[in-house]
Amino acid sequence: MATIKVHDKLFEPYISKTAISEKIKSIAHQINNDYKNKNPLFIAILNGSFIFAADLFKQISIEAEICFIKLASYKGTKSSGQVITAIGLDIDIFRRNVVIIEDIIDTGKTLSAFLPQLHHQQPASLKIVALLHKPEATIYPVEIDYLGFSIPDKFVLGYGLDYNGLGRNIDEIYKLVE
Ligand code: IMP
Ligand code: MG
Repeated sequence: MATIKVHDKLFEPYISKTAISEKIKSIAHQINNDYKNKNPLFIAILNGSFIFAADLFKQISIEAEICFIKLASYKGTKSSGQVITAIGLDIDIFRRNVVIIEDIIDTGKTLSAFLPQLHHQQPASLKIVALLHKPEATIYPVEIDYLGFSIPDKFVLGYGLDYNGLGRNIDEIYKLVE
C-alpha cells in the first residue's frame, strides 16, 4: 500500500475518494429531502470541515445558505469551566433551520460545549452532519443526525483534516500506521 510521510509519521490510505463522494451524495440526498422549502442555514466549523462542507454544499439542490465559523476555546472561571466562542457567526439563527457541518467528532468536547449556546438563540431546528465519528473516543456524547463514516479511535488525516497543520490538501482519508 502506498504510504505517505507527514512530519515524522507514516500514514496509509483508509477511505477512498470514491467512497467519500458516494457518501456525500447520499447524505446530500437525505438533506435535500428533509429540508425542502426550509431554507436551511449550514454552519461549517473551520478549519477541518472546509473541504467536506464545499463538496457537500455543491450537492445541495434546494434553497440553502452557508456560513463558516471558527470556534475558539479558553478557560473561563473555575465555575464556568471551558468557554467556547464562535467567531464569524454573523447571521441571526432565530427560527432558522440550522445544520452544523463538522469534519470529525472525536471526544465530542467542542460541540457539546457549543451546541447549548446555539440552542439559546432559539433556532427552529438544530442538526449535525459529520463526515467522521470515533464512537470509542466519546467523552461528551453528541447526537449526529447525518453521519459519513464511523471509524475506530485512530488518528486520520487528509480531506481537510490535518496533522500539525499538514495534510489538509490530500484528497482522500489516510490513517496513522501503527
Ligand atoms: P472533539 O472536541 O474531541 O470532538 O474534537 C474534534 C476536533 O478535533 C475535530 O474537529 C478535529 O479538528 C480534531 N480531530 C479529532 N480527531 C482527529 C483526527 O483523527 N485527525 C485530525 N483531527 C482530528
Ligand atoms: Mg474540526
